[in-house]
Amino acid sequence: MGLAPSSRYAFLTGSAGGAFYSRGRYALLEAYRLAGVGPGRALLAPAYHCRTMVDPAVRLAAETVLYPCDRELRPDWPSISRLIETSVRPVKALLLTHFFGIRQDMKAARAFCDAHDLALIEDCSHAFAYLQKGEKPGTYSDFVIASPYKFAPCEDGGLLLAGRGRRLPDTALRSPGPAAQLRALARTVERVFSPPPPPAATASAAPIRPAELVPAAEAEEAGDTISTLYDPRDENNAGFFASRLILGTSNPDKIAEARRSNYRRWVEAVAPLPRCQALFPELEENCVPYMFPLYIDHPNPHFYILKHLGVPIWRWDEMAVSACPVAADYRLRVLHLPCHQALGAGEMAWLTATVAEVMRTASCEPCR
Ligand SMILES: Cc1ncc(COP(=O)(O)O)c(C=O)c1O
Repeated sequence: MGLAPSSRYAFLTGSAGGAFYSRGRYALLEAYRLAGVGPGRALLAPAYHCRTMVDPAVRLAAETVLYPCDRELRPDWPSISRLIETSVRPVKALLLTHFFGIRQDMKAARAFCDAHDLALIEDCSHAFAYLQKGEKPGTYSDFVIASPYKFAPCEDGGLLLAGRGRRLPDTALRSPGPAAQLRALARTVERVFSPPPPPAATASAAPIRPAELVPAAEAEEAGDTISTLYDPRDENNAGFFASRLILGTSNPDKIAEARRSNYRRWVEAVAPLPRCQALFPELEENCVPYMFPLYIDHPNPHFYILKHLGVPIWRWDEMAVSACPVAADYRLRVLHLPCHQALGAGEMAWLTATVAEVMRTASCEPCR
């Protein structure tokens, strides 16, 4: 990619021999398959997860064993050993996620996987940029996946790399036709030159009355079905040429700096607030964050009010049920707030002020 030697951060795309899928979830499918996950076999995946991490294992007719994490979302290794011992199906691989861009201890994970004869799959979906002088993704893992479109203004992109200096077996990905490539290029140009309006401009300013607050209905789905976020027709599809073009011209240092600065603004903004706290207040040099995770004491009503006001927030409320108390707690209480490089000072000021106002003034009485 021709990075200047002085650049501090790099994107994973610079590595040779990777495969460029349309989304990380389809790269995960191939990583699981190469790791031996399939019918009659099991994958270890974190109990705190989004559905697209588990969908590919469902597609492979494999069992997913959800492993517990501590409050910093690190794997609980002794519990995982017990899960492996009691699993009816042989466990073939472990998925380890750098949640929000916060790096996991890959060396410890490698030692664990070696001791239990597991393939280690490193999930860099939230950690596409890495510190050049630090540990490179893939140093300890067998496979690395990433989601470039989460970090650069490209429409799609899902990267699969082999770790530990190995190469992926040759796989022929289905390329989008020339018409689709051109349309993607046109959309990319449009997005770059006329980005969507910032959140504050589209937000509803209408005050919300407590009587309007209706809790969302809870529903459970069977675990053997894929989510609507996963489309089997997209398996094996290559990402757009326009996406590669954008990645090749994006500057990892600039993106890293802007994201780290927005993340720090969040940390400062929420520090004095009641009823919430930053999940990871420290930002290590090796972290280029994907989102800012905020733990809130009263998701009901605060999540609803923030949504109503137009704050772009997400949470993983659709995760599969597990015995992990942390995942159960974080499911509704950990909000994912944006720290995207395109957010300017004005937008960040509106976002942080809106969260502050809601946390300070909104009733923390749970609604009906
Ligand atoms: C931690 C994590 N891993 C993997 C994925 C799948 O990545 P993609 O959206 O590129 O399919 C996601 C999706 O959001 C994710 O959050």
